Amino acid sequence: QEHKKLKGKKVVITAGPTREKIDPVRFISNHSSGKMGYALAEESVKQGARVILVSGPVSLTPPQGVELVKVESAEDMYQAVLKYYDNADVVIKTAAVADYRPKITFDHKVKKQVGDTNIELERTNDILFELGKRKVNQILVGFAAETDHLEEYAQSKLIRKNADMIVANNVKAEGAGFGTDTNIVTLFKRSGEVIPLPLMSKNEVAGKIIEEITSLCKDMGTH
Ligand code: PMT
Repeated sequence: QEHKKLKGKKVVITAGPTREKIDPVRFISNHSSGKMGYALAEESVKQGARVILVSGPVSLTPPQGVELVKVESAEDMYQAVLKYYDNADVVIKTAAVADYRPKITFDHKVKKQVGDTNIELERTNDILFELGKRKVNQILVGFAAETDHLEEYAQSKLIRKNADMIVANNVKAEGAGFGTDTNIVTLFKRSGEVIPLPLMSKNEVAGKIIEEITSLCKDMGTH
């Protein structure tokens, strides 16, 4: 009989991309498939947690036993996560959230015109940053999708966003990042510990991340 590492814990996981509407038929988004976040949700359920999966639009079947909250935009995701934050034990922000959205969303399809055009963009809320500010007892885990300066950017996200751990992936590396079934990540912990992991399936990566989160729960005495 395997010991369930997250028994009694409430875990909020965000996954997938967000969509920022330009007009009724167009949006700005990214290549997140949701695979990494859904793997984390599945592993957390397996480890006995109550899992709330806040998901952007993806084509995956949600793992059995999760509570699925479907969202579209960064603002939707922000509102949904805040709703479950206060009595969450662990929050894992795997989603690839848009940093910018169109300043104006048209309610009609924008017609083609002669010549070029521009879309003015404004900042979205940085959800992880806002959660970091409001953190009381939660264990806050962020991701970092980088193409260069992985360690430097991950370490600065750890501090700036008041996270307990950052999972950094070099999204330019073969077999890592968006869309693939595998990932290559390095875990940066608040304690200063740095754990580089080799190429693994996203399910195996999820197992390792949950193991580290379990040890953070123990350190906090919430176990
Ligand atoms: O979904 P897959 O196809 O499996 O791909 C997995 C993944 C590459 C999307 C995943 O492993 C990953 O790296 N997710 C984070 C992507 C990202 O947006 O990284 P970032 O470095 O831009 O953001 C850093 C952190 O801040 C992330 O935890 C992100 O969720 C969070 N963030 C970012 C912007 C914003 N407005 N609000 C946020 O909370």
